Order: sequence, then C-alpha cells, then structure tokens
Amino acid sequence: MTFLSRIKAAARRRLFAPAGPLSPDASTIDLDDASIAADPFPHYDRLRASGSVQHLAKHGSWIVLGYDDARHVLGDAATFSNAPYADVDAVLLGADPPRQAIVRRVLARRFAAQRLAQLDSTAQAAARALIEHEMDAVSGYAAPISRAVAADLIGFDQSAVADIVEGTRRSLETDAPLAALIATLDEIAPRAAMFEEIAAEVGEILGDAEVRSLIRLLWLAATTTTERVIAQAVLRLATDHALAARLRGEPDLLAPFVEEVLRLHPPEHLLPRATTAPAVIGGVEIPAGALVQVCVAAANRDPVRFEQPHQLRLDRREKRHLAFGSGVHHCLGAPLGRHVVAASLTTLLAAAPRLRLRTNAADLPFFRTASALSPLELPIAL
Ligand code: HEM
Repeated sequence: MTFLSRIKAAARRRLFAPAGPLSPDASTIDLDDASIAADPFPHYDRLRASGSVQHLAKHGSWIVLGYDDARHVLGDAATFSNAPYADVDAVLLGADPPRQAIVRRVLARRFAAQRLAQLDSTAQAAARALIEHEMDAVSGYAAPISRAVAADLIGFDQSAVADIVEGTRRSLETDAPLAALIATLDEIAPRAAMFEEIAAEVGEILGDAEVRSLIRLLWLAATTTTERVIAQAVLRLATDHALAARLRGEPDLLAPFVEEVLRLHPPEHLLPRATTAPAVIGGVEIPAGALVQVCVAAANRDPVRFEQPHQLRLDRREKRHLAFGSGVHHCLGAPLGRHVVAASLTTLLAAAPRLRLRTNAADLPFFRTASALSPLELPIAL
C-alpha cells in the first residue's frame, strides 16, 4: 500500500467509523445526550483544551469552561445578566443589581450566625432520627434532612412540607414539571412564617407575587442542591472504606472533604447568563442577547487552577471552587449548606462503622441532564 493510499484509507476509517464516546466537538456535542450526561467530565476537558469559551451549535449558546473566564463572567453582572432565571424567580436570583442587592440584604439577615446554629441543630436532629441499619441514602436521608432544614428556615409546618412533597411528585407526572412545581409552591408559599415577615418588612417594595417568588426560590435553592451534595458525599464514603475510616478518625478532615465533593460534584453544572451587550471573553466575541452557560463543573476541574483536578485531595491548597457561584449572586445559603452536609455526614459516619453500598455502584440510577449528575437512589447498609 502506497503512503497516499494509506492516508486515504485512514481518512475513510475516520469518516465511516462509529462516533466514539469522546468524538463530539463544540459544533456537534449535545450535553443532554444520555451517554454524555452520564460522564460529562472528559468532554468538558476536551472542549476546554481547544478553548475556554466555545459556541455550542446544538444548544445555540456559549459555554465557559475555564476557571478564570468563569469567574470573570460571574463577576460581571452588568454584562452577564441573570435574566435566564426569570421563570424560577425574578426578584433575587433572576434579578440584576441594584434591585437584586436590596432584596438580598433583606434576606441575608435571616442567615445570621445564631440562626445558623439553630438550623445546624435541626439538621443533626433530623439526621439522627432518620438513621436505619439499611436505607436509601437519597429518599431516606439526604432529601428529608434538606427538607427539614429548609422548612425550619422558611417556617413551613409539617403539613405544608407534606403538601409540597406531594405537589413535587405530581409535577413530575406533567409535561412541564418545573411550571407545575412553581404553581404548587406559589400556592403554598403564604403558609410560611417567613411570608408574613418579609411582606411586613418590605411590603412597599415587593408585591404579594414577589414575596411568593422569594419563598419558592428559597425552597428550591435549599433543598435539591443540598440533597445532591449529601448524596455524592455518601456515595464516595460508601465506596471508599479507607476514606470513611480516615474521616471517622480525623474529624478535622471532614470540612476539606465536603469542599472537594462540592468542587468535583457541584449540584448545578451550568449557571446561565444572558449578555446585555456584545462581550469578548476568553478571546471569543459573544453578541448581545446571547445565552452563556458558565460551566462551574468544568471550571472546578480546570488543570490550570487545580492540580490533579479529577482527584479528591484532602490536602488541596487551592480551595476556591465555584460550586456556590461567584459575584453578586454567590449562594446566600453557602454557610448553611456546608453545615447541613457536614452534620449529615458526621451523624452517618458515627452510626455506620461499616458503611457500604448494597448494590454495585455501576448499577445505581442517576438523575442525568446537561446540568446535573446525581444519584437517584443510594441503598446503603451501616
Ligand atoms: C450545598 C448546597 C448548595 C449549593 C451547592 C448552592 C449553589 C448555589 C449557586 C451555584 C448559586 C448561584 C447561582 C448563579 O449565580 O447562577 C446559589 C444561589 C443561591 N442560593 Fe444556594 N446552594 C446551596 C445551598 C443553599 C441553601 C441551603 C440555601 C438556603 C436557602 C441557598 C440559597 C440560595 C439563594 C437565595 C441564592 C440566590 C442568591 C442571589 O441571587 O443573590 N442555597 N446557590
């Protein structure tokens, strides 16, 4: 075979070979594709290697994968607006400064140190009450702990929580689950103690619908996120017995462990923004009115920022991951989220000298979308 025919044959093989799992580039990748959503990290690495900012043709949006560019976008609220969140909430998360800053100040008071200590006790009590020799660490542990803390924070009684849980279940049976869930939460919001308090405090700047929006945002922001982080942490501990034993013996390592789980498995991979003006980011021009997805899951594994980025390292010096976002919308509940995750893990480790999975890790069902990868069930034995 001549040199030229060898090249031609190789080119034919490339053209007709079935697409391998790592083959799609920015022009062809579909992050919602099940095989990609099952393990998006090698894809993020490949995309980032050819440029920190890329236009994803299939999504009609830009993705930001490099750590520095991600922080830059999240830090520039004037150019990168939070408007894409408007369906979920248009008062705080979906609002831009200066209005967002006013609302944020009102809410921030509710996360003072004394209140955090009370909510920490709520998390510990909920965790202790849920421990069973065999359980599903998602539906029987991570989810109810996260709900108990959110209910205490917002002031929902048990019947309101039961109605939200039922409404959430029913919303999943509809064609538009998010819209159905929002309608449920809007209906139940006035039953929260915080609803009256906020309405009394800022009634002149926020109408009834806006206070409902804040209550539903707090519920959504506090529950799913915390639940996913606890689930990922339990999965690690139940499959790495040496790590679990080490954390039992050296409780000071729990905080770095939680930070690494957050860095490696942020509960939301993509934080959406809309450009208010043409922008250049990472050398790439983005027009006004474009959708930009800040991929914190990729930024958190950027090798330029984090050594051995895919490894869980308890001795990591660089700790500033983006799981809680950055800039003016940086998670208001970050200290609370950290407390709740730590309380859940401390209680579990103390109660479970032989923590293990009751099934093969490879068989676990996962919630997989372009923006999230999280175990749906986690059968464990203590
Ligand atoms: C460990 C769990 C948590 C994680 C990883 C997390 C993550 C995030 C992220 C990434 C954002 C920013 C989104 C963006 O900029 O696009 C955010 C915002 C927010 N989070 Fe959390 N969150 C967690 C727990 C909580 C909890 C427990 C609360 C309590 C209610 C909470 C309340 C909020 C609120 C109110 C915002 C909006 C802040 C603003 O727009 O100014 N989060 N969170």
